[in-house]
Amino acid sequence: MFESWAHLYDDVYAARGKDYRKEAEYLRAVIGVAMDSTRVPESSPPAGSFESGSGPPPTRLRLLDVACGTGLHLRHLSQHFAAQGLDRSPEMLRVAREHLPSTRFHQADMTRFQLRQTFDVVTCLFSSVGYLDGPEDLNIAIATMAEHVSEGGCLLVEPPVSRERVQPPEVSEDVFFSGGRQWRRKTDATLDGPLLRIRFLYSRAGQEEPNGAVDEPALRDKPLCDEQLCDEQPIYLFTDEEMKTAFQRAGLEWSRDPKGPSGLGLHVGSRRS
Ligand SMILES: C[S@@+](CC[C@H](N)C(=O)[O-])C[C@H]1O[C@@H](n2cnc3c(N)ncnc32)[C@H](O)[C@@H]1O
Repeated sequence: MFESWAHLYDDVYAARGKDYRKEAEYLRAVIGVAMDSTRVPESSPPAGSFESGSGPPPTRLRLLDVACGTGLHLRHLSQHFAAQGLDRSPEMLRVAREHLPSTRFHQADMTRFQLRQTFDVVTCLFSSVGYLDGPEDLNIAIATMAEHVSEGGCLLVEPPVSRERVQPPEVSEDVFFSGGRQWRRKTDATLDGPLLRIRFLYSRAGQEEPNGAVDEPALRDKPLCDEQLCDEQPIYLFTDEEMKTAFQRAGLEWSRDPKGPSGLGLHVGSRRS
């Protein structure tokens, strides 16, 4: 799935203009509303910056990003929260650990993890629940994430586009630079009942990045076939009702923000104390 192109992931979405900093700020505002906003500081001092003698250090809220991918939301969220990440893909986690060497990451599946600790905030962003098999799996994943939310805390899930709002899929093409070389990604998708079947075709073009290094250690040993790399991803498009049911069955108070950090909406679950 992400195994073959984890090393390209950040460059693809940077070229598409995905703004992780802005999204993290949006999430912080939502968290402030979902929780007692006085508990979400405007800005927290970095861990370890407390000087002895001036009172106890401010406690940072704990945050877990499930399906954190390469950790680009965490890069910004960890400036305000004591943050950890979880993903099932070792390749995505390898990139995440390179970005954030002092952050704790867990390799696990979102339907069956047990970290033996709770968090004030659990997030699962950018359509990651769409990789689940259907509503039964969604109920299990949301229950598993909810078990890790402490009293008074919240769970934020950014879904794939919902089944009610999906538009007929379009073919698109992105051109980006990675590892000093130009790449193209062609994306086409088909709707198949509740599934959106997305096919990515990556081709490495010959052009070198202007002023870029041509040495490409990140690309060595990757499964490139004739300079091409193909990935097919079935995404389950849940309805809003399926999302709401999963949150409520997990004992969370549910609401939906129609906008969300990237326009896909955001499901918000609060665990009332
Ligand atoms: C579209 S990426 C999103 C990554 C990151 N949240 C972001 O916003 O860039 C989806 C991520 O979900 C992870 N993932 C998919 N299914 C998973 C599962 N069952 N448990 C844990 N992680 C999963 C993938 O490995 C991948 O890193």
